[in-house]
Amino acid sequence: MIAIPVAVLLACLPYLTRATNANNRSQIYEFPLKSTNVLAVVPPPLVFNYSSIFLPESVTLVAAKTTPFHVYHPDFYRIIGPSPRLTVVWSNDEYAAAHEAPVYHQPSNALFFAANAGAPLGRSGLNQSNVVWRMDIGQAVSLVGNATLNAEGDYVGGNVTLQAVLNTDHQLENVNGGTNYRGNLVFMTEGRGDSLPSGITVVNPVKPYNATALLPLVILNNFFGRQFNSLNDVAYHRKSGDLFFTDPTYGFTQDFRPSPGFPNQVYRFNEDSGLVSIVADGFSMPNGICFSPDQRTAYVADTGLVMKDRDPTRPATIYAFDVSEGGIFCNRRTFAFGIGDGIAVYNPQGVLLGKIFTGTGAANFIWGGDGKIFIMAETKVYLAEISAKGDPIWND
Ligand SMILES: *[C@@H]1O[C@H](CO)[C@@H](O)[C@H](O)[C@H]1NC(C)=O
Ligand SMILES: *[C@@H]1O[C@H](CO)[C@@H](O)[C@H](O)[C@H]1NC(C)=O
Ligand SMILES: *[C@@H]1O[C@H](CO)[C@@H](O)[C@H](O)[C@H]1NC(C)=O
Ligand SMILES: *[C@@H]1O[C@H](CO)[C@@H](O)[C@H](O)[C@H]1NC(C)=O
Ligand SMILES: *[C@@H]1O[C@H](CO)[C@@H](O)[C@H](O)[C@H]1NC(C)=O
Ligand SMILES: *[C@@H]1O[C@H](CO)[C@@H](O)[C@H](O)[C@H]1NC(C)=O
Repeated sequence: MIAIPVAVLLACLPYLTRATNANNRSQIYEFPLKSTNVLAVVPPPLVFNYSSIFLPESVTLVAAKTTPFHVYHPDFYRIIGPSPRLTVVWSNDEYAAAHEAPVYHQPSNALFFAANAGAPLGRSGLNQSNVVWRMDIGQAVSLVGNATLNAEGDYVGGNVTLQAVLNTDHQLENVNGGTNYRGNLVFMTEGRGDSLPSGITVVNPVKPYNATALLPLVILNNFFGRQFNSLNDVAYHRKSGDLFFTDPTYGFTQDFRPSPGFPNQVYRFNEDSGLVSIVADGFSMPNGICFSPDQRTAYVADTGLVMKDRDPTRPATIYAFDVSEGGIFCNRRTFAFGIGDGIAVYNPQGVLLGKIFTGTGAANFIWGGDGKIFIMAETKVYLAEISAKGDPIWND
């Protein structure tokens, strides 16, 4: 889908760990929350709205990027540690290669991600699928030490090498979500046109990165004979072994999929029994999905705001649900409301602790091992190094 205004959730809260680096707060900024409660001038929505970046009057965008770890609550220090760093490890102003489906493969220390699906800058849509890329994390980390600050306020380390994942038989058409799954990778495909339906594809994480004879490849491509709209994000539920995924209508609103056949809802799939069921509906555009580390809470981002006609009364919201013993989503509540300027970090009560500020939408992110977060910012890949560890979904 197109640029997500919702700062992607870090609701799957990181496990905290002891900071190891020397004291270095050069990239940290304490956001003066209270002093922004009353402003001298508060402009109307036509002037200042969802597409605007809010900063205190004395702070420029470049300055805010130069110190990208914005602290809103003292607890954020326990997550970022004393010397967090944010570095650009890949960029290309003419190609939104980094938008969707980031997945970390620990055994080969590799990161997979996909270009923006259905957008000209992603080089994808009706006539062409987006590409799934692979990069070496060791190479990305090696660029950090040489980073230099540019005029935009980015610390630029260089360009990591990208390798394309093969899509020989159209199994990876407009990939939009992905995660680790039973030792392999699983990707959600939005599909393309009428005859390449949306589905779920399992990919071999090692060479040649496509399928092996042992893999079934596409493991789901319909719901009782009907095409899904355009599958978006996926989360593996460790407790049940099931995949939970969202199915908004972006493929249609972005002109590369037929008229939708289903409501905007969230599904559950058990590959062993073959059962597909619906666990939640009532969304505008259900998008990102993940579980808390104990697997008992599910988070679903609704990016209804992001359509061609941007109506600010539609959601830019993360909802939380309890996951029942039987796997149904219940007790829906509003967890957070997103602003598109980077990664927002909340505690489980929905308190905003801080941000990793990129000054633009951060469509997706993934932990690439302990203390490393890779941020998909369309034409840039950022590496954030902090002291927290992620929920190790890479073992799923
Ligand atoms: C502090 O961080 C900057 C970049 O953010 C780095 O150049 C410098 O070496 C760090 N200093 C220490 C003592 O770690
Ligand atoms: C949002 O603000 C921008 C200016 O920053 C303006 O061009 C746009 O029309 C505004 N959108 C709405 C819906 O008011
Ligand atoms: C896709 O190809 C068709 C047929 O060649 C053409 O009419 C259409 O303009 C193309 N669409 C895009 C988005 O390039
Ligand atoms: C970092 O800079 C040094 C000195 O200019 C150079 O020798 C080295 O190759 C650079 N490393 C990377 C990963 O670019
Ligand atoms: C990375 O590649 C892009 C696109 O080719 C180029 O514009 C940019 O200058 C490169 N960045 C560095 C630091 O070499
Ligand atoms: C995987 O890639 C190899 C190398 O290009 C190719 O020969 C093989 O046919 C592909 N397999 C599938 C199932 O796509």
